[in-house]
Amino acid sequence: MASSAATLLLMLLAAAMALTTPVSAWRRPVQGRVYVQEYLGNGPETTEKVLVRGPGPVNPSLHPPNNLYGDTLVMDDPVTEFPDNTSAPVGRVYGTYTVSSMSRPVHVVSFTLLLTTGRYNGSTIVMGGIDDMSAVLEHAVIGGTGAFRGAQGHVLGKVVKAYSSTHVVMELDVYASVPVPWSQAEEEAPTSPLIIDH
Ligand SMILES: *[C@@H]1O[C@H](CO)[C@@H](O)[C@H](O)[C@H]1NC(C)=O
Ligand SMILES: *[C@@H]1O[C@H](CO)[C@@H](O)[C@H](O)[C@H]1NC(C)=O
Repeated sequence: MASSAATLLLMLLAAAMALTTPVSAWRRPVQGRVYVQEYLGNGPETTEKVLVRGPGPVNPSLHPPNNLYGDTLVMDDPVTEFPDNTSAPVGRVYGTYTVSSMSRPVHVVSFTLLLTTGRYNGSTIVMGGIDDMSAVLEHAVIGGTGAFRGAQGHVLGKVVKAYSSTHVVMELDVYASVPVPWSQAEEEAPTSPLIIDH
């Protein structure tokens, strides 16, 4: 019978994967808070720039006006330890966001936090989802590199400071976990705060 053959195939696949993939049931929490400095507008300090103008139509729910369906921005935002932009730089956020609804205030975002200091220097956390202009935005942590390989979780973002209409600061709270390799799990790895202990 087709269905039992399919079930058997799935069971064999699962067994083969269990043999070849070093799966660990242990996960270590990764939590941290950083601040993303967003420089908008057209000045020389601008870090979020229009990459492509979309085909439209105009999405009337977005301000300032004349946002077209498909408009896409690219970002290279400085990330700091505290809301103040003069506080210690800890990384960058690289990514894009696109006006993805013709009528509602919805952007699809994809961004990666690269840490550039401390023991996580060079490691990244990859995030994505939709931005619907809620006061608190939630995005999925969909992966990572370096110390954050296999990361899963979510991230909450909210604007906590506005220097001006073209310079706002987003607080990013990461709630994720990473798999602990068997060798480390056996020796009971300590939990590791991301960048700052809160
Ligand atoms: C901090 O932000 C202010 C206001 O946007 C800006 O004038 C200044 O150049 C920024 N300083 C740094 C170090 O980025
Ligand atoms: C982070 O790593 C880069 C590349 O390895 C290195 O050039 C840089 O000096 C490191 N920064 C810190 C603060 O350790």
